[in-house]
Amino acid sequence: MEHKTRKRFPSKFLWGSASAAYQIEGAWDEDGKGPSVWDEYVRIPGATYKGTTGDVAVDHYHRYKEDVKLMADMGLKAYRFSIAWSRIFPQGKGEVNEAGLAFYDNLIDELLKYDIEPLVTIYHWDIPQALFDEYGGWESREVIADFTHYAKTLFKRYGDRVKYWVSLNEQNIFVGMGYGQALHPPKVSDMKRMYAVNHIANLANASVIEAFHELVPDGKIGPSFAYTPHYPIDTDPKNVQAADDAEELNSYFWMDVYAYGRYPRAIMHYLEENGLAPEIKPGDMELLKRAKPDFMGVNYYQSATVAYNPLDGVGMSNEINNTGKKGTAKETGVEGLYKKVVNPFVATTNWDWTIDPKGLQIALRRITSRYDLPVLITENGLGEFDKLENGEVNDDYRIDYLASHVSAIRDAISDGTEVIGYCTWSFTDLLSWLNGYQKRYGFVYVDRDVSDADPMTRIPKKSYYWYKDVIETNGDTL
Ligand code: BG6
Repeated sequence: MEHKTRKRFPSKFLWGSASAAYQIEGAWDEDGKGPSVWDEYVRIPGATYKGTTGDVAVDHYHRYKEDVKLMADMGLKAYRFSIAWSRIFPQGKGEVNEAGLAFYDNLIDELLKYDIEPLVTIYHWDIPQALFDEYGGWESREVIADFTHYAKTLFKRYGDRVKYWVSLNEQNIFVGMGYGQALHPPKVSDMKRMYAVNHIANLANASVIEAFHELVPDGKIGPSFAYTPHYPIDTDPKNVQAADDAEELNSYFWMDVYAYGRYPRAIMHYLEENGLAPEIKPGDMELLKRAKPDFMGVNYYQSATVAYNPLDGVGMSNEINNTGKKGTAKETGVEGLYKKVVNPFVATTNWDWTIDPKGLQIALRRITSRYDLPVLITENGLGEFDKLENGEVNDDYRIDYLASHVSAIRDAISDGTEVIGYCTWSFTDLLSWLNGYQKRYGFVYVDRDVSDADPMTRIPKKSYYWYKDVIETNGDTL
């Protein structure tokens, strides 16, 4: 859709930036924190790039005031961060750790001091190791009660000051990579288990949303979904069908549950036919239907293009490009449904992620048409090798990436979608789970690489000043 004049961004638009506890905090065993599954996983030889860990990360735990001051100087309106479950409950349940609660009290108060809206993610992949040891973490329905109790503890403590909450970050990724591709903890590759875990995570998500609406009636909550819109490679009906299959399997299979409490019919049928469907107990679907999110959180990085894939065609690959050597990503697909192919119309990053701002507009439009929910963009950004030269980082490529995506949001708003805010990934550089510290996303360069002894000095990049200007002008310049 083209418009003679584009709409402006809403006056209260949340210009934000995001992070996650494990990727920035460090202090992995300080002040009573218990280990999470990531604290254990990174110690498995070969699990992460050059064995990097988040033990120290970018030391945000000790430098949060400095980081928040940089946000304030930039004029940031909102900051999305996650709470480490095992800082609050070192054993995942039972005794609460007051020092953990106090850390986030201080962070929230520091943000509010500068009028920065805190957006809190309850779960960004770091389930306490104790719960994994006791009952297998997300594989047991026991996690629903423990996750709900943890979330309620947060709502009661911070609900007076925090009005925007994200329930689960990228359920599709932590479930898919943890139990499908064996690339995240607990390193399992078993699709039956993956779909079982996913159903339990859906129930936990719904239970927390229900509890939230009772405890924080004036707040808003939603999941953050990693949405990769799919395109067919061409107009051959077989390829169009493959794109529909990919979209149902990878996108609507999650978002339909969040918004409507139901699984898409064709995909459920496919899972049943292949012996992969999760066990659905009495009451499950009722809970999923009752819990309505206030917005759809969207993490958008890229689109994917697909083609027809026969039953004896390409299968799922467990190998990804985590080195930044362009062109090393492997062919992947689902037999009988689709395979991923190169889209000649879009560029790619050094990690083989497509760069497709139009895909963000398409994503926002699809969500609006299908769910009629407001959208909070909870992540979008470019991971690249940045160079510190003469004390400066001239990341024009990041500015280009972000500018084109912000412009696409403006197009989507002009089309009639409701977008509450935009969080870039990320504010400071941070640990990229499998790619170490060399894949950088931040507006603020952090002077560290593999060694935890690096100085960690904060240096605003060129993109920091660019975003400052975007915020000051409420996006009018784009
Ligand atoms: C999202 C996650 O999947 O993408 C973030 O929510 C993550 O935690 C980001 O860091 C970028 O992914 P990667 O693999 O490049 O770090």
